[in-house]
Amino acid sequence: MPMNVIVMPGDGIGPEVTREGVRVLTAAAEICGFELELRQFDVGEGAFQESGDYISAEALRACDEGQAEGNTAILFGAVPSEPIGLLRERYDLYANLRPVRSYPSLSSVSPLRPEVIDGTDLLVVRELTSDVYYGKQRQGHGSGGEWASQEMYYDESQARRIATVAFEEARRRRKRLTFAHKSNAIGPVFSVWWKVLTPLREQYGDVVFDDFYVDNMAAQLCLRPADFDVILAPNLFGDILSDLAGGLVGSLGLLPSASLNDRGFGLYEPVSGTAPMIAGKNIANPLGSILSVAMMCEHAFHRTDARELIEAAVLATIPTCATADISGSGPSVTTAELGKAVTDHMRETAANG
Ligand code: NAI
Ligand code: MG
Repeated sequence: MPMNVIVMPGDGIGPEVTREGVRVLTAAAEICGFELELRQFDVGEGAFQESGDYISAEALRACDEGQAEGNTAILFGAVPSEPIGLLRERYDLYANLRPVRSYPSLSSVSPLRPEVIDGTDLLVVRELTSDVYYGKQRQGHGSGGEWASQEMYYDESQARRIATVAFEEARRRRKRLTFAHKSNAIGPVFSVWWKVLTPLREQYGDVVFDDFYVDNMAAQLCLRPADFDVILAPNLFGDILSDLAGGLVGSLGLLPSASLNDRGFGLYEPVSGTAPMIAGKNIANPLGSILSVAMMCEHAFHRTDARELIEAAVLATIPTCATADISGSGPSVTTAELGKAVTDHMRETAANG
């Protein structure tokens, strides 16, 4: 049975970086010996200009069928707005995993001192289908002029399922879980979270649990990023904290992500957006997409061998081959050159047995 990948490059740097993700995935399939079937669809702003739809009915059908049949994953690039929210909602992709690690060869690119950033290896577990992003919207006109509100909403089941994912991930990793919240100012919403977290802490007694108000969490991440393992956060706080963590390791372009539902169906994409300022120049960092493909191999296809092959090639390649965002004062390569260098390294590793 082939591994089916639905490729949606999207807009801005999406197509450039996704091309390298596909290159690496294709090489991994050849080397590790699994069959790959790729289907590509135009989505996003470009698709809307062409057809009036951010995503076609055909693309949605492919996703519906892929979810039902299994062995299917979405590789996504980036879009300015839709259809990313639509896909997250339609497939209930509530569990957003965003690993962040420092690379020794990039410590000069980090704004932090090497002794602070070195050894950073954390995972932001961000809830992805609720919070203000999907909250009730109201607007009107009052004595203060025009007003608008968008509700922060969580129920117990939403908090419980993402917290369970975070505890499970912590158990697989270094067994530490930190919860980022704002109970002091948004009491009712976080009392729902605490209601489910209290029994889970007992159930996962082997996981060391602590928590911070999210503002302090941001400061702690800057001061001692290497101390954290898994960070659990609601949608908005997780969005902000993971971009902050990307800045700490030197570039947002380095970060991959997986967005999963309870059936194991998922969408894999770089954490960053369309980066319009650098789009079309072949200078964007493709590692966010390449490492997302590695996550796909693990989570969607259970090919730990392919994930390890890709991650080892990235680690070995970046000291000598880096795009402008991570090259520091050294020479830089293009998006395509970095993708090719990673692939070449994977083939060399395979050839050397
Ligand atoms: P962005 O993530 O596109 O860019 C932020 C900064 O990081 C920019 O300086 C950019 O040049 C840099 N950067 C990002 N990716 C990079 C890469 N691969 N290599 C080198 N540098 C990179 O965020 P921004 O500018 O806030 O948003 C741009 C657009 O992307 C907006 O329309 C936003 O809505 C959309 N967006 C889409 C997402 C998605 O499709 N999932 C996620 C985040 C933003
Ligand atoms: Mg973001």
